[in-house]
Amino acid sequence: MSEQRPDGLRIRDLRVTFDGFTAVGGVDLDVAPGDIRFLIGPNGAGKTTLVDAVTGLVRATGSVRFGDTELLGRDVHRIARLGVGRTFQTAAVFEELSVLQNLDIAAGAGRSWWSLARRRRRTPDEVAEALETIGLADRPDQLAGTLAHGQKQWLEIGMLLVQNARLLLLDEPVAGMSHDERDATGALLETVSRDRTVVVIEHDMDFLRRFARTVTVLHAGRVLSEGSVAQVQADPRVQEVYLGVDSGTEA
Ligand SMILES: Nc1ncnc2c1ncn2[C@@H]1O[C@H](COP(=O)(O)OP(=O)(O)OP(=O)(O)O)[C@@H](O)[C@H]1O
Ligand SMILES: [Mg+2]
Repeated sequence: MSEQRPDGLRIRDLRVTFDGFTAVGGVDLDVAPGDIRFLIGPNGAGKTTLVDAVTGLVRATGSVRFGDTELLGRDVHRIARLGVGRTFQTAAVFEELSVLQNLDIAAGAGRSWWSLARRRRRTPDEVAEALETIGLADRPDQLAGTLAHGQKQWLEIGMLLVQNARLLLLDEPVAGMSHDERDATGALLETVSRDRTVVVIEHDMDFLRRFARTVTVLHAGRVLSEGSVAQVQADPRVQEVYLGVDSGTEA
């Protein structure tokens, strides 16, 4: 196992505008090292845009620090090399390549040409470890395109692990998953958070109740509420925003 200490995420006055429209309007957010923070909020609340800003995909103002490092103003690749990894709302694996090849490519992405050239033919330790962690150790040679929906998401998470991502930002990882796949994904998040910090955007309230350690609710580009699952669920402002969306599913 790796022995890294997780870093935390510290966001201050984050703002993103698109042609005058404010998608993220001054967000402060602290995620402690090793947390599993769920980021929820109605459609269009700015959840994905916030992750885009943290990972350098959209321009933003304010401050985003991961550990001691300011991320804002750096390009996407630099931010990834600093240990910040994200998944997208739709899984992005190389379907025509095997599970192992996908992980190998991801592992190589952060390496210099000479370290790639020096590589031995055996499976590198971090790749073998990731295969184990994501539950695909029994099928390294299966084509990624033939994996079940949930397994593709796990492979994508595995690709972040071999890139040494220490902050994982996952955009709706359990959307479309079966109940069993959700359980397995929750267990995976718990394993991964032992030495990493995890932020999960999710709409699934049942999944949130089971696996969130802390929750932030975004609404119209701002933080509406924050705390434990129980605190956020008891917040009348949250109930108002979700009324009609998630009614009748209180804990
Ligand atoms: N590239 C863009 N150009 C213009 N507007 C955008 C762009 N990206 C997002 N937006 C707008 O910003 C707002 C926030 O979008 P965002 O995708 O961050 O919401 P979200 O909380 O992830 O929603 P969902 O739950 O539907 O995924 C929305 O009104 C969206 O239409
Ligand atoms: Mg989104």
